[in-house]
Amino acid sequence: MKTAVVTGSSGLIGSEIVSTLDRLGWSVHGVDNNMRMDFFGPDGDTTANLERLSKATKEFTHHALDVRDRGGVGRLVADVRPDLVVHCAAQPSHDLAARRPFDDFDVNAVGTLNLLEAARAWCSESPFVFLSTNKVYGDAPNELELVELETRYDYADPQLYEGIDESCRIDATLHSLFGASKAAADLLVQEYGRYFGMPTVCFRGGCLTGSSHASAELHGFLAYLARCVHEGRTYRIYGYKGKQVRDNIHASDVCAAALAFAAAPRPGAVYNIGGGRANSVSILEAIARLEELTGRTLAVEYVEEARRGDHICYISDLRRLRADCPDWEVTVPLEEILADLARPARSLPV
Ligand SMILES: NC(=O)c1ccc[n+]([C@@H]2O[C@H](COP(=O)([O-])OP(=O)(O)OC[C@H]3O[C@@H](n4cnc5c(N)ncnc54)[C@H](O)[C@@H]3O)[C@@H](O)[C@H]2O)c1
Repeated sequence: MKTAVVTGSSGLIGSEIVSTLDRLGWSVHGVDNNMRMDFFGPDGDTTANLERLSKATKEFTHHALDVRDRGGVGRLVADVRPDLVVHCAAQPSHDLAARRPFDDFDVNAVGTLNLLEAARAWCSESPFVFLSTNKVYGDAPNELELVELETRYDYADPQLYEGIDESCRIDATLHSLFGASKAAADLLVQEYGRYFGMPTVCFRGGCLTGSSHASAELHGFLAYLARCVHEGRTYRIYGYKGKQVRDNIHASDVCAAALAFAAAPRPGAVYNIGGGRANSVSILEAIARLEELTGRTLAVEYVEEARRGDHICYISDLRRLRADCPDWEVTVPLEEILADLARPARSLPV
């Protein structure tokens, strides 16, 4: 039986990876200390995902371990000697990082180093998948010329139709502390591929989503929007007239990309991953569609000042990923993601 270590296993992507690997007959060790609740309060509590996994899986072992615990991480990886490591644990919020800089860096950068070193010592041949972020590009994408359309911004240059590719620079740009800690981790993951020859990959995510996201105002764009619609909360739009664009990908498609890489790994790979143009949406468009689907009206507050370093228009260019993993594709269209989020009693299939 193949074994995997999945960090952030109670989170959106981690729980998807756990349930998929379990279905495929793997033995999975999940690492998650529910720090999302510490970051975001009760909205961020991931206990429901853990309970769901514990009930529905066959070979899943949960470890309430902190990725900052270097010794603990090392012992777990030494015991398990996994055939695959998927590292999803993170402080994931752009804005929260400025309030908790040490936690942000210790979890995102040092936690990643702890895991990489453990992997180098005990399973250096096993694919190491890291969930990075498009925030490694900082606000460099905002330098692109944009056109303002009725409900969204778009790139003025038709050559950018497919979106931002991996050649976008990652330095000399405003990242937020979160973007900086993730960029540090992203570079480390690449370096363990280049320097040590390990089969590592960074997936630089756009907006990753799904109904199992413990969404909070500071993280989880579409799921939080849906939460506001369902719970009658006021949704705050920060700047850009609500025309800022995000590309959204369902957790199951992210999981499929991780497993596609694991099946044919290479050292130091980097891919942008998101929903691409077909799954892109502005905040205004997403609100309108969720209102239609639910028959409810969302209370919206407009805050003039944009979030520092927020992307105005971000669409992931998926061509490199498609070229290297030709069987992979975005399979869950935006409309299906929205319809799922619009359902009041959201079912959480394993
Ligand atoms: N969701 C998105 O839109 C998005 C976009 C780009 C990148 N990413 C990246 O993808 C990864 C997964 O994102 P997600 O949306 O599933 O996040 P998530 O917050 O849902 O899941 C992360 C999990 O990690 C756990 N965790 C946090 N700190 C920990 C620690 N110190 N030790 C152990 N566990 C800890 C949390 O409790 C949480 O359950 C993250 O690295 C994130 O930066 C996410």
